[in-house]
Amino acid sequence: MSVRPFVVSDLLACAEIVGDIWGKQFAAEIIEDCQPSDDYDFVERFVADRHGIVVGLCGIYRLKVHPENYVGVDWFVVSQRHQRKGIGTQLLTEALRRTFGRIVFVWATEQAESFYAKYGFVRSDYPLQPREGDALMIKK
Ligand SMILES: CC(C)(COP(=O)(O)OP(=O)(O)OC[C@H]1O[C@@H](n2cnc3c(N)ncnc32)[C@H](O)[C@@H]1OP(=O)(O)O)[C@@H](O)C(=O)NCCC(=O)NCCS
Repeated sequence: MSVRPFVVSDLLACAEIVGDIWGKQFAAEIIEDCQPSDDYDFVERFVADRHGIVVGLCGIYRLKVHPENYVGVDWFVVSQRHQRKGIGTQLLTEALRRTFGRIVFVWATEQAESFYAKYGFVRSDYPLQPREGDALMIKK
């Protein structure tokens, strides 16, 4: 298993994983979100590649409307049958390595809050806009 940068040809495999976990609407959303967009200041995505098969993904991003010293984690998901094998940890570690001392935030799903807590994220009431979820967590 290796973590490597996302390339465009990974997109359908990523959409399939996202669709399996969160449903078709989110599969369509990630495809849309990976098109070039003026909304982003920057975006970097990574995939977990197991013998040429994508089994997980994780991105970091900042929208132009975000404060300059903030960077967010997004599209973080590991395919169901490969969860709890340390792949999420490897993906997040690689993503965090690329955040270069900025304040790292995530709009955490309820299911993943305890995962993020394990890696030092705590709930925050900072009024970050736009709201992209119910639970904003910031890495301490
Ligand atoms: C969150 C997610 C990416 C973690 O990936 P993973 O490969 O399963 O994570 P790891 O195997 O590295 O887990 C490391 C530790 O985190 C904790 N952990 C992982 N998933 C967890 C969960 N669902 N609930 C509680 N703790 C969890 C465990 O302590 C685990 O260690 P353990 O298996 O030795 O107990 C994965 O569970 C997932 O895809 N969830 C659904 C999508 C999602 O909610 N993504 C977050 C969007 S904000």
